[in-house]
Amino acid sequence: MPKIIFVSADGVTREVAAGADQSIMQAALAAGVPGIVAECNGAAACATCHCYFDPAYAACVGEIGEQESEMLDFAASERTADSRLSCQVRVMAEMDGMTVRVPALQ
Ligand code: FES
Repeated sequence: MPKIIFVSADGVTREVAAGADQSIMQAALAAGVPGIVAECNGAAACATCHCYFDPAYAACVGEIGEQESEMLDFAASERTADSRLSCQVRVMAEMDGMTVRVPALQ
């Protein structure tokens, strides 16, 4: 099980063992990581699961989808080059040790 390190906006870190059948959002919710709301439950329709992903893991995080990109324009916190909807990113074994930063607002 890869370990994903979630970092909250106030700098608190939480290490989460994520299942390969989960999205990053699902792994965070299952572990009680605060700051990820996921109002639409993974349908890429709310942008309340916005996170900033470590660019060193871009190859396994994968490409952003068109709907995902449009939704990120409505995210409550600033969109950056590292922004993704965590519900649209699947957990992969190669993500072990990856840092995911949770924005201050969703
Ligand atoms: S949970 Fe709604 S966009 Fe990810």
